[in-house]
Amino acid sequence: QAPRDLAIGSAVWAQQHLVGYDAAAPTEFQEVLAGQFSSLTPENDMKWDAVHPAPDVYDFTSADALIAFAKANHQQVRGHTLLWHSQNPAWVTAASATWTCDDARAVLEDHIRTVVGHFKGEIYEWDVANEIFQDEWDNGGVKLRTTANPFLKACAADPVGLLADAFRWAHEADPDAVLFLNDYNAEGINAKTDAYYALAQQLLAAGAPLGGFGAQGHLSLLYGFDTSIQANFERFAALGLKVAVTEADVRIPLQAGETGPTPEQVAVQAERYDAMLQACLNVTACSSFTVWGFSDAYSWVPGVFPGEGWATISDEEFTPKPAFDALLGSLHDA
Ligand code: G3I
Repeated sequence: QAPRDLAIGSAVWAQQHLVGYDAAAPTEFQEVLAGQFSSLTPENDMKWDAVHPAPDVYDFTSADALIAFAKANHQQVRGHTLLWHSQNPAWVTAASATWTCDDARAVLEDHIRTVVGHFKGEIYEWDVANEIFQDEWDNGGVKLRTTANPFLKACAADPVGLLADAFRWAHEADPDAVLFLNDYNAEGINAKTDAYYALAQQLLAAGAPLGGFGAQGHLSLLYGFDTSIQANFERFAALGLKVAVTEADVRIPLQAGETGPTPEQVAVQAERYDAMLQACLNVTACSSFTVWGFSDAYSWVPGVFPGEGWATISDEEFTPKPAFDALLGSLHDA
């Protein structure tokens, strides 16, 4: 049980794991998911390509299965995501080639009102805008993704105006959901989170219903850990926003021939997970801490980073790792 009302979540791909759920005969995966977490994030099931496959077609089949599972097991749901440069359906990519800003706004408004409206009352936090800033090392440096994101591209003359309206549309469709900006490499204080901080101030000044800032928390043992995460959370909290760790995992580099991580690697992994949780526990405005999948059997990491793996808190047989024990210990102590 988590302290105060901090939600402890996992991402889950409902299409793979929850469609056809029978509460009387859960799979082992479903039992673990129901027993260990108070919040779920759809790993893919609420993304554009899943829910809006054609201009006039919305399909909520697998997302609804996640909502039903969450209800049956008294869990909250984080919505993910409404405005992103990735996993957009082919029709958006094709149509966006000739979009004016008004065209893009009309498509996005319909999507946000329809999707958020469909789940009205079921979602406590929505990732409205996901990964909208580039990294320092990307071509052009830290700036809004006005090339890769088709909506921001069409409205490159006033991207902040589009973002403010995206938050307004979502808020009108579900006034109770807390509306988040969300990104990776956004844990510590750095050039990217400085840009988010400035954007948050702009959106709030414009009266947009921005409610939260999410640090995804995709870490790798190939890199160091920036311990300024708590200070970063505190500055967003001082703006009146909620903060959250939304997609935590800690990748471990693989050596040729290795069949598992070393005890040292597993120990450092546990420290990194725990450091993210500690930052959340130390900032009252932190409302949720979510791991991006709870078992190495179903992690996105090996598919995207072939040289890394073992990123989650339990192994392929769902046996808890030191990272799991560290998180549980901190929650008990809090
Ligand atoms: O669309 C097909 C689907 O029709 C088919 O049934 C399935 C069979 O494998 O493949 C589907 O495509 C997959 C897609 O998710 C589902 O839309 C891809 O293979 C798969 O690689 C893709 O990966 C997801 C990734 O986002 C895409 O960008 C991962 O599962 C998901 O964990 C990952 O999550 C992102 C967050 O949303 C944002 N932050 C980073 C995080 C990790 O990349």
